[in-house]
Amino acid sequence: SGFSKWTQSEKINWVIEQFCSDPKAAQATLKNFQYDSKQQEVLNGFSENTLSNFPLPYGIAPHFVINGRSYAIPMVIEESSVVAAASAAAKFWKSRGGFSAQVLSTIKEGQVHFCWSGEKSLLEKALPNFEALLREETSTFTENMRQRGGGLERIRIIHLPEVGPDIYQLRFHFETCDSMGANFINSILEKAAELWPQYISEVSDTKEEMEIIMSILSNYTPSCVVRVEVSCPVSELGGFPGGMSANSFAYRFKRAVDIARHDVFRATTHNKGIFNGIDAVVLATGNDFRAVESAGHAYATRTGQYRSLTQCEIKDDVFRFWLELPLALGTVGGLTRLHPMASLSLDILQQPSARELMQITAAMGLAQNFSALRSLVTVGIQKGHMKMHLYNILIHFKASREEKQQAFDHFEDQVVSFGAVRKYLEKLRGELG
Ligand code: MEV
Repeated sequence: SGFSKWTQSEKINWVIEQFCSDPKAAQATLKNFQYDSKQQEVLNGFSENTLSNFPLPYGIAPHFVINGRSYAIPMVIEESSVVAAASAAAKFWKSRGGFSAQVLSTIKEGQVHFCWSGEKSLLEKALPNFEALLREETSTFTENMRQRGGGLERIRIIHLPEVGPDIYQLRFHFETCDSMGANFINSILEKAAELWPQYISEVSDTKEEMEIIMSILSNYTPSCVVRVEVSCPVSELGGFPGGMSANSFAYRFKRAVDIARHDVFRATTHNKGIFNGIDAVVLATGNDFRAVESAGHAYATRTGQYRSLTQCEIKDDVFRFWLELPLALGTVGGLTRLHPMASLSLDILQQPSARELMQITAAMGLAQNFSALRSLVTVGIQKGHMKMHLYNILIHFKASREEKQQAFDHFEDQVVSFGAVRKYLEKLRGELG
């Protein structure tokens, strides 16, 4: 007990003593990934019981042209080929007009759930004045946001008889401008949860008591949505590996998207590829990738079936490929400015507004999906993946520059596996004496 109050060294020593097979190596690894005290203090402040840091590669995908503006997009991702795939797709579309992106809406929602056995009409009658009261009671707190054009937009009452005859929610709509807004929304919801039962008991003469169950924002943001598209005449799609024509590519590509529109097994993998790109930008900019993932997957089921988030159309010889998804992102607040790398990412992205960051992130998702499908319907993805796999195995065996080059040539048309690379290096090193 009291673990959380121990110093960092005490926690490290305890974990190492209790659990680590090689205490010396564990100590060294944890130390290796710690920063000097000032930087570490910043990172320690983000979480609890921090022992060290867990670094991931921070890369950049150049060539993006979005709404006529050029971007190099920072990505934090541990999976090989993702950054290369994004850059390749961005380069492909750069010479075909780039990405056009549009924010469709920016409303976020929150809920206060409560039990009420009285008349629903009483709640509905009380709502307008309650809303005015809530605005007044939170006015100091919301002033800044209101000055930026945001704040509470409206409140509705929703009955949830499928949960229980007395279960209701207050559904709130918010505009949070450039911030993701979680703290702003939750603070208002908690204030509403405090005032609502008091207000109802004041204005009604029934003996019914209201009981608040919980108040929290919803990470489902179907009214905070961005759409991004690429298009060009089919003939301009170019030539593809194995002599595949532009026309054949376009139809194979569309089929692949249509399959993911209808088959949940394929749709899940298809959308995973989209989130390879999206999560990487969300992480690099200090945003909440869990929130973005859960909203995106929920949105993918909005027709009653889980489907691909992208769609493709070939009409009048024009190929169109687009992505529509909810993205609740911020460029102020949260970690966006506190984390030095997130702040750097926003600088590289030329200080985007939240709306611009939604467009950039969605373009990355579409680029990623385009690259994945382009590989899948032409040469398959293993060729590209195996190159990175080979690279990682060569690093493991501490291959020299010459050995790496020779191995890349050798495995050009050979199956890469850990054993095969080991054998190859042993032979090479043997021959060299
Ligand atoms: C791998 O991380 C992502 C892909 O499987 C996506 C896809 O199949 O569309 C390549």
